[in-house]
Amino acid sequence: MPTDSAAAFAPGRVNLIGEHTDYNHGLALAFAIAAGVTVRAHASAAAPSAPRRIRAEANDLGESDEFALGQPPATAGGWRAYVRGVVAELAAAGVELPATTLTIDGDVPRGAGLSSSAAFEVALCLALGALGRRTGGGWLERVEIARLCARVENDWVGAHTGLLDQLASLYGAPDAAVCIDFETLAVEPVPLALGDWRLVILDSGERHAHASSGYNERRAECAAACVQLGVESLRDASAGALSRLPQPLAMRAQHVLDENDRVRAAVGALHGGDLPALGALLNASHASQRDLFQVSTPAVEATVERLLHAGAAGARMVGGGFGGSVLGLLAPGVRVPPDAYGVRPGPGAHLLER
Ligand code: GLA
Repeated sequence: MPTDSAAAFAPGRVNLIGEHTDYNHGLALAFAIAAGVTVRAHASAAAPSAPRRIRAEANDLGESDEFALGQPPATAGGWRAYVRGVVAELAAAGVELPATTLTIDGDVPRGAGLSSSAAFEVALCLALGALGRRTGGGWLERVEIARLCARVENDWVGAHTGLLDQLASLYGAPDAAVCIDFETLAVEPVPLALGDWRLVILDSGERHAHASSGYNERRAECAAACVQLGVESLRDASAGALSRLPQPLAMRAQHVLDENDRVRAAVGALHGGDLPALGALLNASHASQRDLFQVSTPAVEATVERLLHAGAAGARMVGGGFGGSVLGLLAPGVRVPPDAYGVRPGPGAHLLER
């Protein structure tokens, strides 16, 4: 019989603008979406002397995993890496877990640029954290949870991603995007007052995995640009200095500097209700991802074209690139293209029950 239980929901996200800025201490403007992952955790009443185990059941995949607690679990591939990573990182953060059965349900498409993996990690972390006991400290703050989940991505999954997805999932709010400053980790809500305009997602159908796409290489190129410029992060680089860099590092750095400016401009456009200006910024962001950061693909380009051809005021690929989804901004009266669906901000990650 379970002695205790907890459940948590964490949403995926759409990044409105600010791509590949997070690990460069830059800016991004993102919102949580309705789709997400729900994790239910049931502690079992095992005798104190019995070996404690974690059992995880991924309902949508019809797969399961099981491993012992008390020592770091062996690494594993696919979705199991997230479960094992979160359990190990919680233990390292001083959270003692009982023997637990986890059930996992989700509706964020995987590898589609909508942060299915962050939703999974954050929901796991919240549900398990609520069940466990943390020695020598209070419960983990949201920024600590985001960092813990990023360690899971980096060290257990092999994707050298930043904090964008986890912070957007944790800080999302209905009717607002969040502007995140990755230098200070300050998070500022920005009302997404679209009136009769709509944001839609059109999936390119091309799936990506950041551990094996060119994502890690892009991150390494940004780090190499910092070394050559003698700066801590590209946030500290001046535009004038970029001509000292060889290609492709100069292009990568130029994208990051311009993208930070576009995020500031997008926040201004939203505050001023200037949605045509927001559309133009989305287009400029996409062009920069394609031409300077070079993370687009023919399937993504065809998807952007479909949205623009349908009359979108702006369209851009969201997420780490090399496939995934394209975001479109539609003015009132523009018909939503077939296969595209509307997206709006939803609540951030939260516990469902205890
Ligand atoms: C992925 C990563 C994020 C971020 C984006 C690109 O979603 O998980 O950390 O780097 O790509 O903006």
